[in-house]
Amino acid sequence: MGKTTSEKIGDLIERKTRLVTMGGEKMVQKQHEQGKLTARERIDRLFDPGSFQETQLFVKHRSTLFGLGEKEINADGVVTGFGRVNGRVVFAASQDFTSAGGSLGEMHAQKIWKVMDMAVDARKPFVAINDSGGARIQEGITALQGYSGIFYRNSIASGYIPQISAVMGPTAGGAVYSPALTDWVFMVKNTSYMYLTGPDVVKAVIAEEVSHEDLGGAMAHAAKSGVCHFVAENDENCIARVKNLLSYLPDSCHSPLPVIPCTDSAERECPELDTIMPDKANRSYDMKKVIASVADNNELFEPHEFWAKNMVVAFIRIMGSPVGVIANNPRFFAGVLDVNSSDKAARFIRFCDAFNIPILTFTDVPGFIPGTQQEWSGVIRHGAKLLHAYSEATVTKINVVTRKSYGGGYNAMCSKAVGADYVMAWPSAEIAVMGAEGACNIIYRREIAGAAEPAAKRAELAAAYEEQFNNPYFAATLGIVDEVILPRETRKKVIALLAAFKDKRQTRLVKKHNNIPL
Ligand code: HXC
Repeated sequence: MGKTTSEKIGDLIERKTRLVTMGGEKMVQKQHEQGKLTARERIDRLFDPGSFQETQLFVKHRSTLFGLGEKEINADGVVTGFGRVNGRVVFAASQDFTSAGGSLGEMHAQKIWKVMDMAVDARKPFVAINDSGGARIQEGITALQGYSGIFYRNSIASGYIPQISAVMGPTAGGAVYSPALTDWVFMVKNTSYMYLTGPDVVKAVIAEEVSHEDLGGAMAHAAKSGVCHFVAENDENCIARVKNLLSYLPDSCHSPLPVIPCTDSAERECPELDTIMPDKANRSYDMKKVIASVADNNELFEPHEFWAKNMVVAFIRIMGSPVGVIANNPRFFAGVLDVNSSDKAARFIRFCDAFNIPILTFTDVPGFIPGTQQEWSGVIRHGAKLLHAYSEATVTKINVVTRKSYGGGYNAMCSKAVGADYVMAWPSAEIAVMGAEGACNIIYRREIAGAAEPAAKRAELAAAYEEQFNNPYFAATLGIVDEVILPRETRKKVIALLAAFKDKRQTRLVKKHNNIPL
């Protein structure tokens, strides 16, 4: 006689119990000793208690090569499924380093394909937790095929559902391209790294000695390459921050923004902004304080905190609804535009536009940085991304000019003619082709050179230039600035504008897609 129903149920429970043991006690202990949580512990922390539904637990590799035929790899080294994160549905894949090093073979990849396809069909965010030795070496080309299928899905889902990568262990070789193709990359200090070729290969090929951490650790990618958006202290902190990011994002490009009850006041003035601007134009102030003043409860959530600090990008909430902020920060290199700050802002603008998050810009920019280093690095090409991103964005775009808006910086920072819906300026705004002294050095070169006292002459001419341009009023008479406002009114004005433009819908020319200068 076959098994009874009760025995069959017992058998299922026994099978499941065995499969969730991952790589076994010793490997789990090794994972913990390295300061890392296991794949399942990470899933437990990401999802609301009891909400996670695991998919394809029984999937097994089918390779017999190089001893794999005898090797059991529980769940084929990756936990996939969906559940609720603070009540909202999210799909996830979490690689299990304790099972064959989380290496990615054919069936491991197909589990990830499946859960990504489910996320797209369900129109919900996808979170990938990466902790893997890379392509499963014994499986060869089928592993590479697996990666290609993930990269393809990352690309196709881009702009449709939010995709987040939490890199919480090794990610080497071509495997780095999945995080790079997603919208947001988190890394954990000291336990995660990403590189195309590791320290040994670097040493062999170019005789350079570098540690894992220096080459591809969290801070290397957060401060130097810009690959990493968020740095976490440990796994717990990483998951908590992933959840915080998700709270700002809609489920998909077709979903409403996640609005939370606002505990700040719509009537709140920001008197601190009346005194934040230094009297001298060459003194700096912290633009993050301006953003915080305007935001609900003074809270901002900042990607790319350590990279291209002359530009700030941040998520805030205004009356409970997410807003993306782009702002020059005069505290770093006078807030000048360059290759990295242009890339940083352009990518953020495109993310916000893709997911219908309104854009609030704060402008204080002396222009693009001059010199061979930047010209030869393609600042023209990178600056063009910023112009392109602002121009193509159809979400609500509000610009507040706090101080300088000079030259190409004027154009690139959400100017009226690249589509700003409304431009406001503080009384400290200076909207001009360039600074007064520089301008006079060009247009009055002969007069200054021929004067008995060139410096005094330059100062006199510069004062006249300043009188004309270094204020918001000339631009306001032309309607290039819609309103000159008191700094303390900024939050109230922004609230009113966002409410007024809530139903903004703009369409662009029908075509296959734009060709942004990459
Ligand atoms: C198969 C792997 C593996 C891999 C690790 N393991 N990586 N098995 N394929 N890629 C296995 C190990 O054999 C070991 O199995 C277990 O996972 C744990 O690995 P350890 O080496 O003991 O861990 P640790 O000392 O922490 O070192 C971690 C590591 C190392 C630095 C990541 O495992 C490593 O160097 N792995 C190979 C990395 C690599 O070269 N990957 C291929 C890259 S090419 P046992 O049975 O002993 O427990 C690539 C191309 C992708 O990924 C291209 C996409 C386009």
